[in-house]
Amino acid sequence: VPQPTLAGLRVVISAGGTREALDPVRFLGNRSSGKQGLALAQVAAERGAQVTLVAANVSLPAPPGVQVVPVESALDLAEAMTARADDADVLVMAAAVADFRPKQYVDAKIKKTHAPGHEDDAPVIELTRNPDILAALVQRRRERGTARPVIVGFAAETGDDEGDVLHHARAKLARKGCDLLIANEVGRDVTFGKDESTVHVLVAGSTAEPVTIGPAPKASIAAGVWDAVQQLLAP
Ligand code: C5P
Repeated sequence: VPQPTLAGLRVVISAGGTREALDPVRFLGNRSSGKQGLALAQVAAERGAQVTLVAANVSLPAPPGVQVVPVESALDLAEAMTARADDADVLVMAAAVADFRPKQYVDAKIKKTHAPGHEDDAPVIELTRNPDILAALVQRRRERGTARPVIVGFAAETGDDEGDVLHHARAKLARKGCDLLIANEVGRDVTFGKDESTVHVLVAGSTAEPVTIGPAPKASIAAGVWDAVQQLLAP
């Protein structure tokens, strides 16, 4: 059996977690390690793709042969993905993107007051919505009237059981409009930062039961995700 291949395809993967700056030294962040995105980049590179990793605050090293574009915030990540979207064959949004950012960025470090009678004062941080990057990438492709790039989203879903997780994931797939949605079960057997994970692969427009991968190392999950992508790419 010939080894499945992504030879010559241009793949752009976002990984890690965005940081939304409050002031020069503080941010709102999340616990995403970037491990799943790195595993996806590694497998894609091994299968012959030309891989760009848009890395949001990833401290782990990138696999060999992968071009890394470091970003910090959701807006940075949106810009980096959008700039590369039209030339890509596959886009994968594996990053944990902040849904909100502080409404105001304060140029100097926020200080506590020592004014008499105000020793207990604390600032109120107002938030504003970040764009949904995945949905925007889908919209952009729709406006261009092309079938490429294939667009893959991730969804961290909690639920009381697998049925719950799949129900939420199906709704999200429809809402986002991407081609594949990789639903991560979180809060049960897996959490951010772990080396193992369980995912369900949902295919847009398919009535087939979602394929479940895992519990398995993130490298095996990555292989399964690329197998699913390759099925969509095949004529
Ligand atoms: O809506 P939810 O955050 O669960 O969707 C997760 C998917 O959407 C992931 O692929 C994530 O990278 C992407 N996302 C995004 N922009 C956001 C929030 C999430 O592209 N602002």
